[in-house]
Amino acid sequence: MTANFQFADQMDVAGKTVLLRLDVNVPLADGVVSDDTRIRRVMPGVQSLLERGAKVVVLTHFGRPKGAFVPALTVRPVAQSMAGILDQPVPVESDVIGPGGKKAAAALAAGDILMMENLRFYPEEEANDLAFAKSLAALGDIYVGDAFSCAHRAHASVDALPRLMPSAAGRSFAAELEALNAALSSPVRPLGAVVGGAKVSSKLALLENLVTKVDGLVLGGGMANTFLLAKGKPIGASLAEPDMVDTARRIMDVAAAHNCQILLPQDVVVAVEFKLGAAHRLASSDDVADGEMILDAGAESVAAATGLS
Ligand code: 3PG
Repeated sequence: MTANFQFADQMDVAGKTVLLRLDVNVPLADGVVSDDTRIRRVMPGVQSLLERGAKVVVLTHFGRPKGAFVPALTVRPVAQSMAGILDQPVPVESDVIGPGGKKAAAALAAGDILMMENLRFYPEEEANDLAFAKSLAALGDIYVGDAFSCAHRAHASVDALPRLMPSAAGRSFAAELEALNAALSSPVRPLGAVVGGAKVSSKLALLENLVTKVDGLVLGGGMANTFLLAKGKPIGASLAEPDMVDTARRIMDVAAAHNCQILLPQDVVVAVEFKLGAAHRLASSDDVADGEMILDAGAESVAAATGLS
């Protein structure tokens, strides 16, 4: 699985400007990073590039500003958190594809790091716009992709950009590939997978492939609601994709044909509002009322998932 990849750890990056695509989309509380797990995960790779004399330009998205400047979705808190971990400044450049961005990237010395402002402030990012990708490519010499969690997005900084320049997988991306390789090529059975997220539609190929390979598939998040709906369960006002119900049924059929057990929540936490401190109750997945939303799996479902064998 890793044969077709170049890895950043094996590249000579000394004196080179590395465009490092990260996924540092982390939660904030009062404008400060409240959980820096994702940032800490990628830091060994960042540190290694800096120690080997690269000039690092971090590219990332943050939240979903949908192509507009949203002050609350600036990457500044992330840069601040990263600066604390690295113990060196991580300035943020707002003029990503204009003269400011070019000047800031060109001014970097070996071992310096700079973060570009939220790429999704530009509509061209999610449109996978080639001209936008070319402007980004002009800022550096090498592309390093270390954003495994958004590698499925056909966005300019993930898709168009690495096609335009020498590119390599970063350290945490490499670790994900290795883990996937170990799990899917010669797994210790029984093999289980846990998949969450809002949508079935964006993970269709993944689900169809997984059910042919794993012994058990645990579904959570909004996606599980679409499967519950497909099984005729009441899901009230829960997030779901009713137009994907037939697809969900097909995936269940493929799973059954491959002896893959799909585990859906049997007990769920429901509330009529999605907000901190909202009144909620534990319900059977057969007993969700009209205005209620399924917001979490219950303890029984968690126990069933962890006891999968
Ligand atoms: C995430 O937080 O899961 C990733 O950053 C991807 O974000 P997205 O779903 O908005 O592309």
